[in-house]
Amino acid sequence: MAPAVPLAVLALVALGAPGLGGAPGCDYPAHRWCSSRDVAVACQVESRCPSLPRPAAAPVELSLYYESLCPACREFLVQNLFPTWLLLPEEMLNITLVPYGNAQERNVSGKLDFQCQHGPEECLGNMMEACLMHEAKNFSTYFPVIFCLESGTSVTKNLEACLQVHAPEVDSGRISACVQGDTGVALMHHNAQVTEALHPPHQYVPWITINGKHTDKLQAQAEASLLGLVCQLYQGEKPEICGGSKAPKIPSGCRR
Ligand SMILES: *[C@@H]1O[C@H](CO)[C@@H](O)[C@H](O)[C@H]1NC(C)=O
Ligand SMILES: *[C@@H]1O[C@H](CO)[C@@H](O)[C@H](O)[C@H]1NC(C)=O
Ligand SMILES: *[C@@H]1O[C@H](CO)[C@@H](O)[C@H](O)[C@H]1NC(C)=O
Repeated sequence: MAPAVPLAVLALVALGAPGLGGAPGCDYPAHRWCSSRDVAVACQVESRCPSLPRPAAAPVELSLYYESLCPACREFLVQNLFPTWLLLPEEMLNITLVPYGNAQERNVSGKLDFQCQHGPEECLGNMMEACLMHEAKNFSTYFPVIFCLESGTSVTKNLEACLQVHAPEVDSGRISACVQGDTGVALMHHNAQVTEALHPPHQYVPWITINGKHTDKLQAQAEASLLGLVCQLYQGEKPEICGGSKAPKIPSGCRR
């Protein structure tokens, strides 16, 4: 039987590294030094443990600048973004939603006022979604609710129902208070600023940035197949859904 301990670590031990506490914070016997990345880091032998899983790659970052009632925005969010998010492992795709789009902000004697491309209902929808994100905090909690709002017949009338189905722990009263109060205005002001800071400036919505960048090509690829684009850009180990090689699966214990 081959020893379970990698030769490099045996060599380290042989070279006189102390058996326990090889490094401060390393409270593990030598045969466990390569048992996980955390242990290897604590024992400062990370580079000598070839069998460790690779460190996670950075997620692909997607920001969506949109308006709650714009049909093309709803279509992208409902038919492309949400299914892609459902299909991919969480660590692959980091999504930021910025409801505002082509809205306009005015400061009328110290009071901020918003005008939206599709009218006051759109402003309300934008603010409801911004407040929902603010209150729910966790993306996996609020994204299904936003999907529910955007895929329904009315974006602004179904909040209670969508919360009940997808996030019963989120208090709709807090969202209403946010929408009617200063917090909603502050969130919209923030979205206005982020949208206006886009470089290049957005020309239409939905406006997509990938890893902070917008090009016509990235936009077109994202709209044609977001799943394919994220699979292509992600630097880490790709999941099966990305349709990688057809090579037979090697049991993970033997992978090099
Ligand atoms: C996702 O992106 C946001 C904004 O860039 C960042 O604050 C957050 O830490 C990222 N999350 C992960 C898991 O990388
Ligand atoms: C709005 O304008 C007032 C002056 O009329 C100014 O004091 C205030 O800072 C402005 N608010 C914002 C958010 O720009
Ligand atoms: C967000 O929610 C998901 C699913 O309920 C959960 O697995 C995850 O731990 C939560 N994240 C945070 C930061 O609360």
